[in-house]
Amino acid sequence: MSGTQEIARVGVVGAGTMGAGIAQVMAAAGLAVTLVDQAEDFVAKGIATITSGLDRQVAKGRLDAGERDAILGRIGTSTNTADLAGADLAIEVVPERFEIKRDVLRGIAQAVGAGAIIASNTSSISITALAALVERPERVIGMHFFNPVPVLALVEVIRGLQTSDETVAQTMALATRIGKTPVEVADAPGFVANRLLLPMINEAVFALAEGVASAGDIDTVMKLGAAHPMGPLALADLIGLDVCLGIMEVLQAQFGDDKYRPAPLLRQMVAAGRLGRKSGRGFHDYTTSEGVPA
Ligand code: CAA
Repeated sequence: MSGTQEIARVGVVGAGTMGAGIAQVMAAAGLAVTLVDQAEDFVAKGIATITSGLDRQVAKGRLDAGERDAILGRIGTSTNTADLAGADLAIEVVPERFEIKRDVLRGIAQAVGAGAIIASNTSSISITALAALVERPERVIGMHFFNPVPVLALVEVIRGLQTSDETVAQTMALATRIGKTPVEVADAPGFVANRLLLPMINEAVFALAEGVASAGDIDTVMKLGAAHPMGPLALADLIGLDVCLGIMEVLQAQFGDDKYRPAPLLRQMVAAGRLGRKSGRGFHDYTTSEGVPA
């Protein structure tokens, strides 16, 4: 792809909640998407997530069935990163572990052409460090989406030390084209959103452990007193408590500041396998309809 050409083909590596959401919004904007994961059933689960999201929109009358089929028709699947050879941009959306991202980014860099942009949806790992893993690091950039991707308008666009102006400009233009509002931020721990959001969640966990208020009441305070769409503990359950813990650990390590220390109760919850919505239980219980916070 030359600098003036529009991005037409994208690869999304990782078909979990975030990867599926990103593939959906890209395809809805008319891009040809290849959704890649390491096993057929992971890819199938991603496609099922996208299909049920689109079906909901059809049921609400916001999308007609033909448009849904056209969007799904623009999403191809693969279990081999090498299939991204023709992509103008490939984004990794794999678990938040440096070694996993390293291997995936190197695989993407080998597959795509020299002019393709390589993006990471990392929520806390340094883009500069990720860019240093591949040749031509000037084409590496952070594209940080928010959960649920089809609903939330923001994309943090993170410029690593090596990222070129052209890569930034093309990525900002792409984010706008898919209906998002991009905000360019520097490569600092947690960028902007998670640097603010996660310490708030962590503080809510401290308050819960200290018995200041119940989980439901802490959430009500922030919903009704600060007009947040959901309380911090329900939000932690949505994000995943393991993800929250991982981000706090990165903030603490990278700033070298114990003000970011994870709440011991957060560690305990993760150790107990209470990871939030995805495991059925976190600070709230999702196994019964009464337990689901409004
Ligand atoms: N996928 C797609 N659409 C979804 C959805 C999902 N998972 N969840 C909800 N929606 C849609 C609904 O279909 C509904 O659409 P319509 O308005 O078209 O009918 C709309 O979102 C609102 O949903 P609901 O009425 O069911 O519920 P709500 O009004 O309470 O909204 C919410 C739910 C969108 C999740 C809202 O509570 C919210 O925005 N919460 C905050 C989420 C947030 O802060 N996310 C960021 C997490 S941090 C992160 O992602 C980055 C990181 O690195 C950790």
